[in-house]
Amino acid sequence: MLRPFFPFKFPFTPVTDVAGEVVEIGPQVTAIKVGDKVVCKLNFTKGGGLAEYAVVSEKETVLRPDEVSSADAAGLPIAGLTALQSLKSIDTKFDGTGKAANILVTAASGGVGSYAVQLAKLGGHHVTATCGARNIDLVRSLGADEVLDYNTPEGQSLKNSSGKQYDYIINCTTGVSWSVLKPNLSKNGVVMDIAPNVSNMLAFICGIFTFSKKKLKIIVLSLGKDDLQFLVALVREGKLKTVIDSKYPFDNARDAWAKSVDGHATGKIIIEM
Ligand SMILES: NC(=O)c1ccc[n+]([C@@H]2O[C@H](COP(=O)([O-])OP(=O)(O)OC[C@H]3O[C@@H](n4cnc5c(N)ncnc54)[C@H](OP(=O)(O)O)[C@@H]3O)[C@@H](O)[C@H]2O)c1
Repeated sequence: MLRPFFPFKFPFTPVTDVAGEVVEIGPQVTAIKVGDKVVCKLNFTKGGGLAEYAVVSEKETVLRPDEVSSADAAGLPIAGLTALQSLKSIDTKFDGTGKAANILVTAASGGVGSYAVQLAKLGGHHVTATCGARNIDLVRSLGADEVLDYNTPEGQSLKNSSGKQYDYIINCTTGVSWSVLKPNLSKNGVVMDIAPNVSNMLAFICGIFTFSKKKLKIIVLSLGKDDLQFLVALVREGKLKTVIDSKYPFDNARDAWAKSVDGHATGKIIIEM
């Protein structure tokens, strides 16, 4: 059914985020040499990362400094860039010189959410976050000003203790619908939805044809190398960290995959080889 949108060819090797060492380069590669430690984002439709050797484009490859572990770097490409794109789309300045906003990050314990909370705080925003009870302390440690357990009435309704509506919501779960998000938005508030469910897709389409000031935008990752470099630098400077759920040896990649699709990881799942 999805073949027209994702023209994968089988057999398909999944995974787009890799960190590793360069063993061979093509004749036109100039910025990278054999032996370099790198982190890369592979093409989403081609994948190829879940393998001992991956073919990557120089355009999506960034040098990994020694201070950044390969696991920390490997977490960054898709999740870190999606979080970064959400915050850049509202003109966040990551040195804190921009305009502060009141932001909600849902599923803040996930891969994207855990980076989004940290980047929002670097931007000087006030951050409310949702996650499960077991991750409240972790999400607070990432900088969130207030954390709501999504299994409580406050977490379900997304209401913070001050009752203040959000200027922006970075929605990182399919589990929250527009009918819950909308009343929590301030007058010109915007939802940046990275995981839209059907109701939110409809809200996005309706928003194009109506004059409602409250909007839902769908975020589809389009950032590349420069932004990945920016994230790697933040990790090197100790301003951003990768939350690692678990590490699996290559032989147990099947278990790692099952854990990933289960939707209950805390941060990123890393496969080592
Ligand atoms: N648009 C894009 O370009 C883009 C890029 C990357 C990812 N995505 C999508 O974005 C979504 C998030 O990705 P991810 O990798 O960050 O997810 P993830 O790591 O799988 O998120 C899992 C975490 O979310 C928490 N969670 C689940 N439902 C929740 C809810 N209703 N409220 C609050 N927390 C909840 C879980 O907590 P518990 O274990 O306690 O339940 C778990 O810690 C996925 O649907 C993914 O496909 C989109």
